Order: sequence, then C-alpha cells, then structure tokens
Amino acid sequence: MEIIRIPRIMKETSKRLLVKGRTIGFVPTMGALHEGHIFLVKTARSDNDVVVASIFVNPTQFGPNEDFGIYPRDIEGDMQKLEAAGADILFLPDAPSIYPEGFKTFVEVSGISERLCGAYRPGHFRGVATVVSKLINLTLPTRAYFGQKDYQQAQIIRTMVRDLNMGIDCVICSTIREGDGLAMSSRNRYLSPAERKAATSIYRTLKAAEGMVRDGLPLISIKENMQSALRAEPLITEIQYAGIYDPESLEEKTETGRAGLLAIAVMLGSTRLIDNILVEL
Ligand code: PAJ
Repeated sequence: MEIIRIPRIMKETSKRLLVKGRTIGFVPTMGALHEGHIFLVKTARSDNDVVVASIFVNPTQFGPNEDFGIYPRDIEGDMQKLEAAGADILFLPDAPSIYPEGFKTFVEVSGISERLCGAYRPGHFRGVATVVSKLINLTLPTRAYFGQKDYQQAQIIRTMVRDLNMGIDCVICSTIREGDGLAMSSRNRYLSPAERKAATSIYRTLKAAEGMVRDGLPLISIKENMQSALRAEPLITEIQYAGIYDPESLEEKTETGRAGLLAIAVMLGSTRLIDNILVEL
C-alpha cells in the first residue's frame, strides 16, 4: 500500500490512473478503523481497479466542546487493516495541507444539514461537506463509499455531489454491528463497561420500533415508545432525538408514506451515539 501525504501528489496520482482508464474507489475516514470502515474498503475493492482510503481527523467538523483533541488515533493499526482489506493507496494529509493559511471556502447543503444531528452540532455538516468535497477533488474517484450508520451525512454528501455536478457515484453500505447489535463506531471505545452494556438499548429500541411499524401502530405512539424505552435506561443522560423521519427531507414523519427512517441520537455521559434503520411503512 502506497502512502501519500501531499495533496498535489494525491491528485497527480489519481489523474495518471484515470488517464490509464482505471476506476478509482474512494473511502474517506477519520481513522481508528473498525469493521464498518473495512466493509466499505472491501466493497470498494470489489467494484474498482484502484482503492484509495483517506484518514484525516477533520478539525472543521468538530464543535468547540467536542472530542477533536481526544478523537482516537491508531495509524499503525489502521495501516495494517487497510492493507489486509486490499487498499492500494492511503491518503494521509495533515491539517495545514488541507487548510492552509488563507483558506476561505466552505460548502453548505442547506435544509437537511440543520435537522437531526445538525440541530445539536451546529457547523458539523458544513465541515463534513467541505472536507469531503476537497477529498473528492484530490482523489478524483469514480465511486465514493459511505456508511448508512451516518445516514444524514450520506444524504448530505449525495445532495452535494448532485448539486455541484461532481459526477461520481456515491455508494451507501449497510451498517456493520457488534454481536449484540450495537453499531460499530470509533467512539464506542469511550464507553465504560456499564455504558457499553447500556448502549445496546439503542438498536433494541430501533428493532422494537420496526416491529411496531410492521404491526401498523400509529407513528406518534411508536415515537412515544422509542422515547420511553430510551428513558428507561439510566445511563442514557440525554435523548437528542428518537423518532421516525422522512428518508429524503429528514423531517419528522406524521403520516404513513412509502418508507421511513427510524433514527436515534443519545448521550451516554460524554459520549454521543447515533444509529438508524430504514423501514417500509
Ligand atoms: P468516520 O466516522 O471515520 O466514518 C467513515 C465512514 O465509515 C463513513 O462513511 C461512515 O458512515 C462509515 N461507517 C462508520 N461506522 C460504520 C458502521 N458501523 N458500518 C458501516 N459504515 C460505517 O464519517 C466520517 O468519518 C467523516 O465525517 C468523514 C466522512 C470521513 C469526513 O471527515
């Protein structure tokens, strides 16, 4: 696996590959890789001639009171995992090369960026959209891979790619989970053993809600059930949202349509966890 740290060299390398007619699959990450990330890399591996992964803990998507400073970093372990999953190139830029002095341009996807996580993390999706558009401009992918775990992020990036004519395919891969259902996340390692156990209530609540959808319960009572199931878990210190949302607009759903997004964001002490599943209504 080749490691490229300089943005200009990344772009020249991708240009040369494209001229040779190669397809490029791109997997952007912030590192501390787990099987969810690796699933994206393996999917990219099976779809493309060349697989580029990036690791960049992007400062502009963290709020002033968030975990940028302590975000888990494990470059050695990450490189081994990427290599084993078949990545060809690791793009590993540093912050000054991505945001040099005088950097002034930000990408904002209005509307859907303000809902759900956006309401609790002002500026977060502006940082995500900005860095992902830069990474796309540098790696020149044929296809880029994102996880459904971060459903809102994937929707925002798809919208940006469409609106700005980026001309790449966005592939959304299903959420990889631990044996007990907890969605894999780099942030799971912040959890104490007791919190780790309590965190299983998130997926349990989603699955119970899915059952209620299947049984035809009114959306309002499903939402109430989700909220009270999460409230019953004493280690959940805040429920930021839990309910049923329109999969396109991400607005709260009041009437049965074709499909719905069951989504949850909670705090377990200082750790913020999210999860979702899509259901037919
Ligand atoms: P990060 O949290 O490292 O996630 C990188 C990619 O892995 C995202 O597309 C995310 O949705 C996906 N992912 C995370 N957990 C997953 C799981 N359990 N199953 C499947 N896919 C999973 O998301 C980011 O980084 C950043 O915001 C980034 C897009 C890199 C921009 O900085």
